[in-house]
Order: sequence, then structure tokens, then C-alpha cells
Amino acid sequence: MARSEDLRITYTSTSADMAEVHRLFDTVVADVRAQAGGVHPLFIAGEPVESDLPRLVNTSPIDTDVVLGEFQSATAEHVDMAVAAAQAARRAWGNRPWQERVAILREAAMGVRRRKFEIAAVMALEVGKNRLESLGDAEESADLIDYYCQQMEDANGFVQTMNAITPIETNTDVLRPYGVFACIAPFNFPAALSFGMSSAALIAGNTIVYKPATDAPWTGLLVYEVYRDAGVPPGVFNFLTGRGANIGDNLTFHPDVDGIVFTGSKPVGMRIFHGVSSNWIKPCLLELGGKNPAIIMDSADLDAAAEGVYKSAWGLQNQKCSACSRVYVHRDVADAFVEKLLARTRDIVIGDPTEQHVYLGPVINAKAVKTWEGCVARAREEGEILLGGDRPSDPALARGHYVNPTVVKAPLDSDLFMDEFFVPFLAIGVVDSLDQALTEANRAEYGLTAGIFSGKPEEVQHFFDEIESGVAYANKRSGATTGAWPGAQPFTGWKGSGGSGKGGCGPYYVAQFMREQCRTVIVEPAK
Ligand code: UN1
Repeated sequence: MARSEDLRITYTSTSADMAEVHRLFDTVVADVRAQAGGVHPLFIAGEPVESDLPRLVNTSPIDTDVVLGEFQSATAEHVDMAVAAAQAARRAWGNRPWQERVAILREAAMGVRRRKFEIAAVMALEVGKNRLESLGDAEESADLIDYYCQQMEDANGFVQTMNAITPIETNTDVLRPYGVFACIAPFNFPAALSFGMSSAALIAGNTIVYKPATDAPWTGLLVYEVYRDAGVPPGVFNFLTGRGANIGDNLTFHPDVDGIVFTGSKPVGMRIFHGVSSNWIKPCLLELGGKNPAIIMDSADLDAAAEGVYKSAWGLQNQKCSACSRVYVHRDVADAFVEKLLARTRDIVIGDPTEQHVYLGPVINAKAVKTWEGCVARAREEGEILLGGDRPSDPALARGHYVNPTVVKAPLDSDLFMDEFFVPFLAIGVVDSLDQALTEANRAEYGLTAGIFSGKPEEVQHFFDEIESGVAYANKRSGATTGAWPGAQPFTGWKGSGGSGKGGCGPYYVAQFMREQCRTVIVEPAK
């Protein structure tokens, strides 16, 4: 049997033997299903800890009768314990030669590759991500860790000799860790975003209190295990599961937390941002939502455009920050484009996303179904539903959070083009020019990703110059607005989509987890 680490799968490409990939996934997902139902502790300072609060019962969105596991609901006291453990570990970890931290993290990347199929199978069951995207998420996790390790190596640990202004001085600039980071991850890339945020913080020399999404604690537990097995010392990475109401503010506003790295919704991110720096300014790395547009010009290859929008609108049920949720299409090609997109979408396979041929799984939870129902109700008033708007009738899907992908044509002034929904709902608007499309695209408060399909280089250039988003794609058939990869597409949110102006997957990420110290030494000449 092929080794997991030899079967490489990204969101846009694979060199792997796909028959082997599917065979291995089938085997592993059966093993993982057989492990479901366990009771799992918190891990603080390397020790298992249980809570007296009622446990979180983690059910699968594919079939809510399936209990994947039971996880502790941490209290404010557990937050205190975890922060204290991370504080106690931070000097030893931060003062360790950076080469040793990099070696441990490179081992973690290998650990992810070895357990890639298991990580993917768990997340497929836990969040409803289809098998290839789940494998891509796990693969991205390993590449993120390696890419951030390389950043540390390329920068020589962020130690630089500076100019000497007098002959008797030596000046050295070093970037040093802040201390303890709270790392709060979302459900949608439960491995890649957890590993991405936390590995950068760890490589930089910080210790961590990590909270996976309430809907993805099992994948979060695997993140903990990979680090532990790679040799991350006790207390350096602490694992808390539970409800936002108990952990959220208690963790992010904790006086002994030195920085926050968070991926999630804009309202929560803004709350963290406003609340975190009451005594002094703390680093706050936020990757928030998106309302990512695709612009289809009259010169576009419409097959490429339809495929690119299809993938970015329906991949993970539109629950990616990078998902395409609105399209501005030139009037002259609007009907032809819509027809191609609807034809593809009609053929989409909906169902259990662990199965080989399924593309669209369930949405994450009952709240997401409600959000989708709300969108549909608004669309009936404000626009025209071209496809979807109902739930699948297949009785086999009745116990899961399934909704049909929904395409709506709406007037450009509808807020359906402005609000982030995070459900499989796509709004299409008709425009007369690129400038009109850009004005509409830029009207949203978000600015994460955007795509254009155009046959004219000057249009593409104008799009790059004017679009207000950190990630911009032209003619990307494999995903109009999705599919950023470590070292290839830095993932930077502008405006309401992010805080620091420098993104994960990018060359400036690790340095953001460190603060500068300039070291000047004066050696007076001997008298
Ligand atoms: C997210 O949803 O927060 O570009 C991140 C992509 C993924 C990143 C999504 N690599 O589609």
C-alpha cells in the first residue's frame, strides 16, 4: 500500500495515483468511523483534564444521529490553568535555539503527512468537507508548517547585524516572541488554519492556548496529538474545547495572554480587536470574512468562468472565507454564462462527502440551515431564484444539514451582494462595464479574494489595480476565488476581512508573531 506522505494532493493539482488515494481513503474512513464515540479530555501542560460541565456532544453534520465523540466544556478556571501553563513554558521554549524549534515543527509537518488520510477522514465526517478538499486541507497543513519553518531559516532566525554609527558599538536586531498566544480556529479549515496559525506562532517562539471550533474538536485533538508526538514540550501547546461563552472573552481578554491569532467572523474579530488592548497594545492577527466577487467580462472563456465559479461557490458548500458568493457578469454574455453555470450546478452530486463522487456535503449545523433559509426568503423578495431554494428530498439525507445550492439573480443594489452568509447561495448581477463591476465589487466592506475572467490583458491589469482585495485571481478555472496555497498565494484580508495587511501563506507571516529588540553593545577601547 502507498504511504500517505507519498500521495500529494493540493486544491488544484495532484501527482498522486487517484485509484490508490480513493482506496486508502475508503479504508481510513472506515477505521475512523469505528473510532467514533470516544470521550476526550482537555490537555493542559501535557496532562488530560476533565470538566464538571456537561460535555459537548460532537455530532456529524452528515447524519446528526452519529456521535463522533464527546469533548469537555472548559470553564473559566480551565482557561486560567491553560494560560498559566503556557506562561510557565514560554521562556524555555522562546529562548531555545530557533533551529531546535524548527526541527520539532518540521517533524510535525511530517507527522501531518503520515496521518493525512486520518486527519482528512475525521474532518470530512466532522465538518462535511468532501474527500479531495479534506485531503487538500491536510496537505496544506503540512506545507504551511514547512513554509513557515523555511521563513525562519531564510531569515536566519530574524537576527540581523545593523549599522555601527561609531567604531565602538555593535548593533544587532532580533525578533523575539511575545509570549503566550491565544489561537482560535474556525470549523471550515479545521486542520490547515489551526496548524497554519499555531505553527507560525510556535516557530516564532510563542506558546499557545488553542481552541478549535466548537463544531470541529476532533480535528483539533489531532492537531494537539501531532504536535505532542513531534516533540512539542508540555505546556507549549494547550488544548481547550468548549463553548465560546465560557472560553471566548476569558481567553482573548486574559491579562496574561500576550497576543491573539484568530480566524472567524467579522463581528467576533472586531470584538476581540476592540477589547484586547485595554492596558497596552497587543498583537491581534485576524482573518475575517469575505464576500468574494467573480467578474465575468464579455471577452471571457465562459467554460473556464463557469467552472471556476462552480468550484469556488460550491466547494465546501460556500463555507470558505475565500468562497465566491457574488458574480458580476457582463450583459452581453450574462445569459450564456448563467446557462453554463446552472447546467453544471444541476449535475452536482450532493450527499455524504466521504463518498468518492460526492461534491457537495451538508452545511455545518442547524444554524447554517436557518441562515440559508433566510437568504432564500430574502431572494424571493429581492430577486429571482434561478436554481435551488429548496432542500434535497432524498430520504437518505434527511438526518443531515443538507440544502440545495442556490443561484439568484438580483438587482445590484440588493444587500444579498453585500452580506456574508457562508452557505451555498450565489448572487448574480448584470453589469455593463468592468468599471461598474469594480465599483460594485468594492462596495462591500470585505476585501479578501476576487477573480476576473477576461481575454484582455489590459482588463486584467485594470482589475488588479482597482480591486480592493488582498488576493486577486485572473482566469482561474480551478477556483475563481479559492485555492490559495502556502508560498504561492499569500492570503491577506483588506478592509473588513483582516487586520494586519500581511497574510497567512505569505512571506511576512511568521515575523508578525514576534517583536523587535535592538541590542547595542559598546566596547570602549582599552586605555
Ligand atoms: C478560509 O476560508 O479562511 O484559498 C481560508 C483558499 C484556502 C483558504 C481559505 N486556502 O480557498
